[in-house]
Amino acid sequence: QELQMNLEQIEKGGYDHFMLKEIYEQPNVIKDTYRGRLHANEGIIQMAGVEDNLEKFINAERIIIVACGTSWHAGLVAEYVIEEFSRIPVEVEYASEFRYRNPIISSKDVVIAISQSGETADTLAAIKLAKEKGAFVFGVCNVVGSSISRETHAGAYTHAGPEIGVASTKAFTTQITVLTMIALRLAKVKGTLSNSDFHRYLQELELIPEKVLEALSTNDIAKEIATKYKDASNCLYLGRGYNFPVALEGALKLKEISYIHAEGYPAAEMKHGPIALIDEKMPVIVIAPKQGHYDKVVSNIQEIKSRSGKIIAVVTKGDTQVKELADHVIEIPETSDALSPLITTIPLQLLSYHIAVLRDCNVDQPRNLAKSVTVE
Ligand code: G6P
Repeated sequence: QELQMNLEQIEKGGYDHFMLKEIYEQPNVIKDTYRGRLHANEGIIQMAGVEDNLEKFINAERIIIVACGTSWHAGLVAEYVIEEFSRIPVEVEYASEFRYRNPIISSKDVVIAISQSGETADTLAAIKLAKEKGAFVFGVCNVVGSSISRETHAGAYTHAGPEIGVASTKAFTTQITVLTMIALRLAKVKGTLSNSDFHRYLQELELIPEKVLEALSTNDIAKEIATKYKDASNCLYLGRGYNFPVALEGALKLKEISYIHAEGYPAAEMKHGPIALIDEKMPVIVIAPKQGHYDKVVSNIQEIKSRSGKIIAVVTKGDTQVKELADHVIEIPETSDALSPLITTIPLQLLSYHIAVLRDCNVDQPRNLAKSVTVE
């Protein structure tokens, strides 16, 4: 028993929980993910599984992404980035819906399945269905040799290392890293990004690990904010564009580990429903980086403020406008809109972590949840 406890302590590497350790591993694992694949100075992105099947990708009439949970959120980010960079139509589906609805799919489609564990039953079944219908299926998995990595025609591993915490953190950011590299590689062959933009994105991608490291220094402020809102019974997360999926993921993290009801919404949809919920007891986390639809988000923040909602805003370092309106701001380093989910997601992970700890929840093994869902 005692030996077991000590072993676990060692495995946690000095952190109180696996989740916190995994959050802090992100600068390094993102580097591991692009190591040998991203050569920013030479302007090269090379991933064996993509290179070998380049024709299939560029001739695809559309890409369909299938996944569950957090991996599905990474898929939503991928939809935006693949469409913007490589101009291939993308659809994102819950694997469980896709597999049971007789989807229209043919050999002209490329299916990307995203899964940390590589064992999720619904995702696996969706892959089998897509294969039967003749599609080329590409996997983005973390666990090497997993069922999904074996069942797909080709793929790219995320190289995040073992993720023990049930709530996914580093798997999410490394999935986004892989998918962004795929989008850039396809853009390069298709010529859908200008040369200068392509090179700029490569350089920026290389800087992401140090910006994630900087974003981790929001830990203290996240903890302080957690102390104020740990007893909330509801929470709203808002973001636009690339940060809409980040809002969904932020809300999911909070639900999963702190059992506080949370919802993520595209900020502009607030007026079609959630605004009715806003009062002085409602904390609203708004992702409002300078790049992206800043002015629009600022007006959303004003709408929340005029209804006395509590505003916790994730902003770019040096922001002044939101600072005047928000109750709390969390400052993160600047990056381009398309890469911002890799940074904006960090303080949201920390915020849910601290809230869960303060509520005495079992952070690494939340009730009713499993790390890998092999039932349908
Ligand atoms: C479970 C886990 C989530 C994960 C989801 C999909 O619900 O608790 O963290 O996002 O399954 O898992 P996968 O391994 O396919 O990414």
